[in-house]
Amino acid sequence: MDATYHLSGGFKPTMKRFADLDGPDFFPTPRWATCALADNEKFVGEIWECACGNGAMSRALAMNGNRVESSDLYQRGFGEPGVDFLDTERRASNIVTNPPYNSAEGFVVAGLEKADRKFALLLRLAFLEGTNRANTIFARNPPSRVWVFSERITFYPAGAEAKGSGTTAYAWFVWDKDSPGTELRWFKPGYKARYS
Ligand SMILES: C[S@@+](CC[C@H](N)C(=O)[O-])C[C@H]1O[C@@H](n2cnc3c(N)ncnc32)[C@H](O)[C@@H]1O
Repeated sequence: MDATYHLSGGFKPTMKRFADLDGPDFFPTPRWATCALADNEKFVGEIWECACGNGAMSRALAMNGNRVESSDLYQRGFGEPGVDFLDTERRASNIVTNPPYNSAEGFVVAGLEKADRKFALLLRLAFLEGTNRANTIFARNPPSRVWVFSERITFYPAGAEAKGSGTTAYAWFVWDKDSPGTELRWFKPGYKARYS
């Protein structure tokens, strides 16, 4: 049986992410996409990867010597399972993750509450759009920095052969308690080759 399917609902016809059928919305993030963030944002103190999947992002986040704590709602063979980020009292100095697509807004609200210093989410660049988000997230808590990828990220289920190029633009959205206002920045090309 084909263990993958295309998420290509009518409202996002160019979506080319694949999802595994074993669990809701599980896509390991390619290492280079996390390294681009870690190269450009300094994190003071521990980092909590709160939807860690198989640890792809946690491992990359450890590259600068930060202690990385990892948890997930589901058992994926890495970190602490059974921790619902949307319903936990836990908090951390920094929180970084690639959230499940269908709960991105909830993760923003929860992360703003639970991160003491920085909170970074890998999201579709199009997350910037939308009247609902404009009235809620962006009117009240705009991100401090949005890091736009100049190279496209392609997500595959764990273990699948990585080939082709993605059609969806992604960015790191960073909320920094020490940086009011919003800056738009671009990653220089080259991270894919350097960290793949
Ligand atoms: C898109 S995957 C990303 C995995 C990992 N962060 C990475 O970047 O490689 C989203 C992950 O969120 C987890 N997840 C879904 N809902 C969650 C929740 N409410 N709390 C914590 N983790 C959740 C899923 O099990 C899945 O592993």
